[in-house]
Amino acid sequence: MKEKLYINGEWVEAEQYAELFSPYSQEKIAEIPQASDGQVDAAIDAAYATREAMANLTAYEKAEILEKLVVLFKENRMRAAQIISLESSKPLKFALGEVDRTIETYKFAAEEAKRIHGEMIPLDAAKNGANRLAYTVREPIGVIAAITPFNFPMNLVAHKIGPAIAVGNPVVLKPASQTPLSAFFLAELLEQAGLPKGALNVVTGSGRKVGDRLVTSDKVSMVTFTGSPEVGIGIRNKAGLKRVALELGSNAGVIIDDGVDLDKIVPKCVVGAFSNQGQVCISLQRIYVHENLVEAFTAKFKEATEKLVLGDPLDEKTDISALISRKEQDRAKAWIDEAVEADVQLVTGGTIENDLLLPTVLVGVAPHLKVSCQEVFAPIVSINAIQSVEEGITAINDSRYGLQAGIFTNDIATAMHASKKLHVGGVLINDIPTYRVDQMPYGGVKESGNSREGLKYTIEEMTEMKLVIWNQE
Ligand code: SIN
Repeated sequence: MKEKLYINGEWVEAEQYAELFSPYSQEKIAEIPQASDGQVDAAIDAAYATREAMANLTAYEKAEILEKLVVLFKENRMRAAQIISLESSKPLKFALGEVDRTIETYKFAAEEAKRIHGEMIPLDAAKNGANRLAYTVREPIGVIAAITPFNFPMNLVAHKIGPAIAVGNPVVLKPASQTPLSAFFLAELLEQAGLPKGALNVVTGSGRKVGDRLVTSDKVSMVTFTGSPEVGIGIRNKAGLKRVALELGSNAGVIIDDGVDLDKIVPKCVVGAFSNQGQVCISLQRIYVHENLVEAFTAKFKEATEKLVLGDPLDEKTDISALISRKEQDRAKAWIDEAVEADVQLVTGGTIENDLLLPTVLVGVAPHLKVSCQEVFAPIVSINAIQSVEEGITAINDSRYGLQAGIFTNDIATAMHASKKLHVGGVLINDIPTYRVDQMPYGGVKESGNSREGLKYTIEEMTEMKLVIWNQE
């Protein structure tokens, strides 16, 4: 099917198209328009022209659009999940979970739209501040360029579009090249929900070409990007004085202290390591287990991993399907091979069968190996023995990334200590780092990013604070 760009409330053909293939079956699933420079500019102009209309919407009107969107997503739950599965190979059960989260994200956005406010400032606390009434208001920042990844093509888009609408900012959305269908579907639903023309524009095409045009446009006030540090840093360097919110990668770790109940923990760790084939920024990549438990943990983990069902993403029994591309699969396999050549113990997996990379468990992984120090974004997990929690903390912090980390322990003081010492955006006590619900502050330190998502927090970033002072003398 030949898709169209969505510019200024119209569905527009492009001069050039690229074929989109299923990552699993490699069959052609759509033809995707490749926006010309002129079409990207038209999308930016449309968003720019609608700034005032969007800024003038009342909180009630913005919440109403988002509430209607929630209803439409609920009515189209299965169709939305099938689109995600088809274009990204996310197994259907996880795609349904993503749609449910997307619904919650837009619901939170509708609620937050009603509580965007400033504060009174007691100016008379200063010697020269008497007889003045002062308060702040939060105003929409302007046109937002949203550049989104393939791994959560509905919900990570919702984390940008939901708060933008709640605030009253128009958006130009550039979805990942492999997952444009989810974005076109969202545009259809928002049209039905009554979003003003020009408030959402969807442009597809070469990441660099379209992305660069958005990032360097004088009419764009903020760029919000989720993806790799390399691309994120490039965006920041080109964006000038625009606000730039970056949600980047990680090689998330968990510590498993002595004395904990492995039967409760292992199933969580398996989900954390392998859901969406490990293509999650907070995927559990490094597991540090107390030496007294490491043998038992590894045996249980291996057993649970080998029970996972590999296959067609649209089959509801499937746990693991194809990586986003064969190129990514080859890259992941080469990293496993590098580890095995360096005498790492391969506990299970490590091969490609029926074109799918088997979930792979490695033990005794030196920190300099790519499977440990880089973001694997594939179903590969490393287990290492530690003599103490302190050793685990040092190992987790020895990373260019710092998104989320977890610790399982029965000792309150140990948990408290770890929460202070782990250099990350979020610490999970008695849980895996892969935990996320959508209203919580989510983001990282170091090369994991420079901002926080979670509706309330994104809304802060998507608004300008204005101060108003009334001289009453
Ligand atoms: C991400 O991969 O950055 C998002 C993870 C999530 O939302 O669960």
